[in-house]
Amino acid sequence: MYAGSAVCGTCHADQAAAWRTSHHHAAMADPRPDTVAGDFADAAYDGPDGTTRFHLRNDRYLVEAIGPAGSPETYEVAHTFGIEPLQQYLLPTGDGRLQALGVAWDNRPATAGGQRWMHLHPGTAIAPDDVLHWTAPANNWNHMCADCHATGVRKGYETSTRRFATTYAEATVGCEACHGPGSAHAAAPARVRTTPLDSPATELNACAPCHSRRSAIAEGFTPGANFLDHYLPALLEAGLYHADGQIQDEVFEYGSFLQSRMHAAGVTCSDCHDAHSARLVLDGNAVCTQCHAPAGQARFPTLLRKDYDSPEHHFHRPGTEAAACVSCHMPAQTYMQVDDRRDHAFRVPRPDLSAMTGAPDACRSCHSDQTPDWAAAAIAGRFDTTRPAHFGAVFAAARRGRYDAEFELAAVARAPTQPAIVRGTALSLMAGYTRGASATALREGLRDPSGLVRLGALAGSTRWPHDERWRLTRHLLTAPERAVRMEAGRLLAPLMTTLPASTTAELAAALAEYRQSLELNADRAEAQAARATLHMDLGETGMAEAALHEALRINPYYLPALLNLADLYRASGRDAAAEPLLARAIEAVPDAVEARTARGLWQVRQGRLDAALADLQAAWRTAPWLASSAYVYAIALHSAGASEEALQVLAAALEENPGEPRLVQTASSIAREAGRTP
Ligand code: HEC
Ligand code: HEC
Ligand code: HEC
Ligand code: HEC
Ligand code: HEC
Ligand code: HEC
Ligand code: HEC
Ligand code: HEC
Repeated sequence: MYAGSAVCGTCHADQAAAWRTSHHHAAMADPRPDTVAGDFADAAYDGPDGTTRFHLRNDRYLVEAIGPAGSPETYEVAHTFGIEPLQQYLLPTGDGRLQALGVAWDNRPATAGGQRWMHLHPGTAIAPDDVLHWTAPANNWNHMCADCHATGVRKGYETSTRRFATTYAEATVGCEACHGPGSAHAAAPARVRTTPLDSPATELNACAPCHSRRSAIAEGFTPGANFLDHYLPALLEAGLYHADGQIQDEVFEYGSFLQSRMHAAGVTCSDCHDAHSARLVLDGNAVCTQCHAPAGQARFPTLLRKDYDSPEHHFHRPGTEAAACVSCHMPAQTYMQVDDRRDHAFRVPRPDLSAMTGAPDACRSCHSDQTPDWAAAAIAGRFDTTRPAHFGAVFAAARRGRYDAEFELAAVARAPTQPAIVRGTALSLMAGYTRGASATALREGLRDPSGLVRLGALAGSTRWPHDERWRLTRHLLTAPERAVRMEAGRLLAPLMTTLPASTTAELAAALAEYRQSLELNADRAEAQAARATLHMDLGETGMAEAALHEALRINPYYLPALLNLADLYRASGRDAAAEPLLARAIEAVPDAVEARTARGLWQVRQGRLDAALADLQAAWRTAPWLASSAYVYAIALHSAGASEEALQVLAAALEENPGEPRLVQTASSIAREAGRTP
């Protein structure tokens, strides 16, 4: 049971006083003069899609905004959200929903351009049916925000009525968000202790749920529980992280910190951040020179005893921003227009890698007029830069589907010195490969002690046919972590109907947990589409179709649901009905290769070869390096009689991806048919 921070504060005055100054304390609050930062004195924000107005009437904070019907409506602010560098406002839109308004208060000082209303997606008109509109699912507090900005949240979505009855123990990140429910301790502190947070691992486990990119799979996390029993964290996926592991999308700190040598050595968040004020324990470079100094640090005997806070190391003018450790070792990304967040992987700047991966590098965040080669040369002139190979180059190649990346991926996955999140990512990238070296790495990965590694290996295991997958992954149906059990169940689901009933008890149990997680997220198009896939795997076509319709009711532009429903129509003899779905998929994401390819193949089935070629060409243009899109386009060209062009497409793809077997085979057979020597 939760007691609330006010009760804890009666005995722990120091911690409570520090906490009240923290941003955790301001994560969510009732609107009052002391919590509202924005200008509600009849202020207005003019955007391309209309005017948003802010009023204060009889102590009520009111917002006039464009509602779901496209006309202005007045809402009363339910809560403030965050404080610095920006504050958002939650507005009730009915059925228990709170939505985060896209017009936010820039709370930076006026001298820095702040103290103004701004839009989180400026410059474009956002229609009420747009996925970015403030009333859309992406801005829904109940699912998207609540469990990180409050304590003890229960989402309370009811599928049958499509309403939320969301509850929480405390509106904001209270004491018990980190210490766990504490009413028993508060009643008898000498007898009942709180969950210990006294080791790097237990502390990190307490911060991870809110400081990571993850999806919730089961509610009720407390700091004594295993993170992986309640959350499925993202690996270093394209779109979230650059190939070299640097932050790209909003991923918070956990996934970065797991990559760092500091984490491996036992450094933890509270070495730098006071847990209660959430401020740095020391200002500027001093937070780093706690350990990185000529005196070293007793806890970390392996540290080099060196003066880093000197031009000898940083080769810039002391005291300037260019001489700040964080400028080179924690480069920042800006989110929400004004919110700079620093990369917590604490890596050494690698402009030489950026040249290979296209990722940004710390040096050029200031020296933007210079090339990566310039920066790399400046470093090579000052330091010994003989280093072991970095996983970034391999991941960049694997993301582009390079056939020859397989052996190096296996080497990364098997290297004991690589962080678990990196090894897991390497394994997850093996799904598209088939050779022996990666198979060995996958088999080992499926038995690794780290849950993250096993999750990555499961993702890579989709390359195996079902019977082999069953043999190699079924032991994970009873893994200690729910996230792993669920993922194993999801990937083995197609076997449920074919195996003898006596062997499926564990699979059934894992699928039950998987279904519960889908139920928890039933308000999301993602979960409905996943539910549809599960129904298909179990041969329940009618229920699959209903789930896909529900997904599209929630988000009419959700690409996987559009494509899967089109596929289901084809499989059930209703191919003609798929066209509007495919057209909407292309409208939703014009450069999505899958959507263009799907419609191209649909056109082929309708016998419209010209239209098909147009779509398949568009797919290929979007990603000419992808073997699959070059392959499909080349086959279509060939069947349209354009064998020369087909060969050119294949030759270009082979230049990107030397030796890719399917490309080689197709090219030789087309060449042979065209009477050319392969
Ligand atoms: C009635 C007074 C009282 C209240 C209320 C109280 N504590 Fe404590 N707390 C104590 C005392 C006394 C100790 C030291 C116990 C000892 O060392 O024997 C303590 C210790 C702790 C510790 C150190 C670790 C441990 O468990 O020994 C933490 C963390 C803590 N309390 C958190 C909380 C939180 C969170 C709340 C609110 C849910 C809370 N306390 C409410 C009196 C209280
Ligand atoms: C229940 C979710 C939750 C937990 C648990 C949590 N945090 Fe946070 N943390 C947040 C949110 C939300 C914010 C942003 C609050 C805001 O800006 O108002 C935040 C902000 C921060 C900040 C930035 C403060 C600033 O001044 O900008 C730090 C540092 C931080 N957290 C560290 C930690 C550490 C360390 C732990 C674990 C010991 C932890 N947090 C646990 C949700 C959480
Ligand atoms: C996974 C947990 C998580 C979720 C989900 C989440 N936040 Fe946050 N939020 C944080 C953390 C942690 C911070 C502090 C900055 C950081 O860690 O990078 C933060 C900061 C903020 C801030 C303050 C700016 C700042 O950096 O201090 C605002 C405003 C905010 N979040 C709004 C939202 C809204 C609106 C949603 C839902 C659409 C949301 N957040 C969802 C964890 C979360
Ligand atoms: C963001 C997570 C977080 C929040 C919120 C938080 N604590 Fe803590 N607390 C910790 C961590 C981590 C430690 C142990 C590490 C340390 O020594 O700082 C700790 C330690 C403590 C201790 C042991 C003595 C000490 O200061 O080290 C007490 C008592 C305590 N907290 C009480 C509270 C109370 C009361 C609140 C709310 C007013 C609170 N904490 C809020 C993370 C948190
Ligand atoms: C609590 C001690 C501690 C603090 C504080 C600390 N570090 Fe470290 N740092 C370490 C340890 C330990 C290692 C690992 C070195 C080893 O393997 O012996 C390390 C390694 C590093 C590395 C090498 C990374 C690599 O991949 O080779 C960099 C860069 C680094 N730290 C930067 C920083 C920066 C920047 C700060 C301040 C924001 C900082 N550190 C604060 C303890 C600390
Ligand atoms: C202008 C950029 C820059 C600044 C500022 C900077 N560093 Fe570095 N740092 C580098 C580069 C480049 C390397 C890589 C050197 C190499 O390859 O050996 C490096 C390497 C490191 C390493 C790992 C190698 C080793 O010697 O252990 C640590 C630790 C480190 N820096 C700590 C710090 C600390 C602490 C500060 C602040 C006092 C700081 N750095 C400021 C550029 C910078
Ligand atoms: C070696 C020191 C160090 C460690 C360890 C560390 N941080 Fe930070 N953190 C920083 C510094 C420095 C900043 C930048 C502060 C600033 O710009 O004012 C920062 C910023 C943040 C912020 C503000 C938003 C952002 O990303 O810039 C949050 C939230 C945060 N840290 C959370 C965490 C959490 C959670 C952990 C543990 C997983 C952690 N930090 C570990 C040094 C550290
Ligand atoms: C925070 C901004 C910033 C970062 C990050 C930064 N620099 Fe600089 N750099 C400057 C500024 C400003 C100067 C000129 C004044 C001085 O020396 O501090 C400069 C000067 C230089 C010079 C000498 C003058 C010249 O242009 O030839 C070199 C070389 C250099 N930087 C290389 C690097 C490299 C390599 C990195 C990455 C490891 C880096 N810088 C990171 C801001 C930065």
